[in-house]
Amino acid sequence: MIIAIDGPSGAGKSTVSKAVARRLGFSCLDTGAMYRSIAWQALQDGVSLEDGEALGRIADMHEIGFSHEPGDPLPRRVSISGVDVTDAIRTAEIDRSVSAVAAAPAVRQALVAQQQRIGRAGNYVVEGRDIGTAVFPEAELKVFLTASAAERAHRRVAQNERRGVGSTDYAEVLADIERRDAIDSSRDTSPLKPAPDAVQMDSTGRTIEQVIERICALAQEKG
Ligand code: C5P
Repeated sequence: MIIAIDGPSGAGKSTVSKAVARRLGFSCLDTGAMYRSIAWQALQDGVSLEDGEALGRIADMHEIGFSHEPGDPLPRRVSISGVDVTDAIRTAEIDRSVSAVAAAPAVRQALVAQQQRIGRAGNYVVEGRDIGTAVFPEAELKVFLTASAAERAHRRVAQNERRGVGSTDYAEVLADIERRDAIDSSRDTSPLKPAPDAVQMDSTGRTIEQVIERICALAQEKG
């Protein structure tokens, strides 16, 4: 079974996906981490973020891996060609660069193929922007999770403070979220939009716990 969770930055997808996966005994796949890893590699290699073909070659050449911490069933560490980039892909520089990388059709083609291979191997909660529309259009359950931009920026600042990486400046984080929303929603290839059969949930003013409960209940109805 595939549960697709799409939505804009900071809507709570990662927290919700991990919690739902834990409760249902599923694995989870953070596809945003894959686009971030390609952005990291492009910056390392000095590749222009406007050169879609060169970005696509990076996505074709490098293997992205997910690994587990001891005793944790959910994959938490991300690597690209064997280099651990778990923290390095959460910086403000990657926040600024990733949407340009994700708009390149050749990058999407390479990563979508990898995501389909991973997800088809078992029961997965897959989070991203285009999971219900492009990666797994046949997913048994599709959720489109949103929240106001202001609430998403507050949550992202709190998350960055906890992790000790990324910007903790509210105005900077809000501006980045609004800029990424605009690029992600207007790109030609797989723009951010709900699948026609997605259940839409607005988490503004709701607790994450309520969102998790609702998704688990819907999954149990389907499964
Ligand atoms: O989810 P996260 O904020 O880590 O995603 C980073 C960026 O990767 C998004 O802003 C978007 O540009 C891109 N992305 C995408 N498609 C996905 C997941 C992420 O285009 N399925």
